[in-house]
This record gives sequence, C-alpha cells and structure tokens, in this order.
Amino acid sequence: MNPLSTRVASLELANPTMLASGMMGETGASLVAIVKAGAGAVVTKSVGLEPRKGYENPTLVELEEGYLNAMGLPNPGIDAYREEMLVARSAKVPIIGSVFATTPEDYALLAWKMQDYGASAVELNLSCPHAKGLGMEIGVDPTAVRRIVREVKQTVKIPVLAKLTPNTHRLAEVGKAVEEAGGDGIVAINTLRAMVISVEAKRPILSNKVGGLSGPAVRSIGVRCVYELYEAVEIPIIGVGGVESWRDAAEYMMAGATAVQIGSAIGRKGLSVFQVIVQGLQEYLEREGLENIGDIVGVAHD
Ligand code: DHB
Repeated sequence: MNPLSTRVASLELANPTMLASGMMGETGASLVAIVKAGAGAVVTKSVGLEPRKGYENPTLVELEEGYLNAMGLPNPGIDAYREEMLVARSAKVPIIGSVFATTPEDYALLAWKMQDYGASAVELNLSCPHAKGLGMEIGVDPTAVRRIVREVKQTVKIPVLAKLTPNTHRLAEVGKAVEEAGGDGIVAINTLRAMVISVEAKRPILSNKVGGLSGPAVRSIGVRCVYELYEAVEIPIIGVGGVESWRDAAEYMMAGATAVQIGSAIGRKGLSVFQVIVQGLQEYLEREGLENIGDIVGVAHD
C-alpha cells in the first residue's frame, strides 16, 4: 500500500498535499502544472456566477512572513470557467471547484455547475476576508452556514467542503453547523484580516486597504484552529495556512487534518514544494516505523 495515500470524504488522494484555492487556480493549464508538480488534489480559484474584474492594483504585498492580498475575487464567471475545468479534468487527481456567492441558492447553482463540469468535490468559500456581503461576512454566522451547506448538499452528489475563516471566536460552532448540515469536510483556515502601511506614502498599500494575510505568519493560528475543530466535529478537516515543509504538514496532521493545502509556499519556494514535502513525509514515516500517513492524524490530542 502507498504509505502516503489518504482519503478525504470519498476522495482518494495519492498523497496528502493539495493546491490551496487562489494560487495558480485561474486556468486549467495552471492546475495541470500543479498536478505535474506532485499535488494529490487541486482546488480552483474561487468562481462566482458573473465575471468580476477584482480590485485596482496594488492587490498583493510581499512580506518577510507571507503575503497580504486583496484581489477582490477576480474570475471569469462560472460559465466561462467550464473550459478551464475541461482542461483540468485531463489530470488524474481530484479537481475541487471553489465557489463564492451571497445566497444558498447561488452557492447551490455554482456547485451544480462545477459538478456538471466534472469537479470531484466543491469547496464553498465562506471566508474571503474583505469582500462586502460575501465570504467571511457569511462564514462567521452558524445559521447562514447551515443554510448554505444544506442547500448545496440537496443539490449535488459530490462531496461538499466548507472553507472557514479564523476571523471569529465561533469557529467550533461554525464547524458544527457544517457537520449538522451534512457537509463532508472542513477546510481551515482562510487568510487573516491584516494591513500594511507605506511610511513614504503614509497610506495603506493595498487599494482595498485591508487584505488577507497568508504564509508562515498564520501557520500556528491554522494549527490551533484545526486542533479546535478536531475536538468539535467528526468530519474530515483539511489544514491550510503557511505549510512550507514536511514538518508543517505533519504538524497540521497531528492537530487533526487528513490533508493539507499549499498556496503561498508556491510563490516563496517554487513548484518543487509539493515533491519536497511528499518526500519528507515519506522519510519521516520510515524513520518512525509507521505504515500510513493516516497514523499521525490527530495524535497531538490526549
Ligand atoms: C480573495 C481572497 C480570499 O482570501 C478569498 O478567500 C477569496 C478571494 C481575493 O481577494 O480574490
């Protein structure tokens, strides 16, 4: 048996690394490149019903400890995204369609289209930290989350994952709402609301002023969130936030994640990051005398 194989709901992954939404998920060709780099699954950039241009530049600030971004959900709209999905589908790993909307009905329609285009699962973006009326504004309310997940579950057959925000003290409650509504898994965490100011311009650098912080800066927050969710729910958790090495991946898995997503590290370390992490995990299992990566999931709990 492949020591790194893992299951997330009904998805079979050859290894526990996945591409996180937002990085290189704009086109089918870029998703295929990530699969070639060794990812066990890939998640698309978040797609909505209508095309969106996103915010004016600057939309990204590179920091020592990660990235601050406020892209503004630029995407071609779900109908145009069909072509990208057809290209991505040629890769032999699960393709997870990320979607964002404002109402349960729109989430369900987007999920249905992703399923129709061949997505293996859908990831509901309930956590964009800076778009008015979208994302995080919904994802901090357990009642709204329950309604959305229920509506999507009634509409599609593929697994439904919910991507949650750390920008709340009600994370466990929101996680339970996902589970009660029949959600198949939780993805934690999205970026944290943050700001960088230019001392020369004496203004916030991002055109949106506030953005989402990602990368190593947020890793220990992500690990804490996964740990708390693992104590609150039975459904699988996918850990994301600052994973750059096999140690980071193992840490998330010991907190309770069955897989990890990688985003910022692609920009910081290059595409080889998937292979390097997979290799490191394999060597760790050999050193520890463990048969499968699943053996470390949740071991940090009493
Ligand atoms: C964007 C940022 C996010 O953190 C997110 O979840 C979705 C979209 C963006 O700015 O495009």
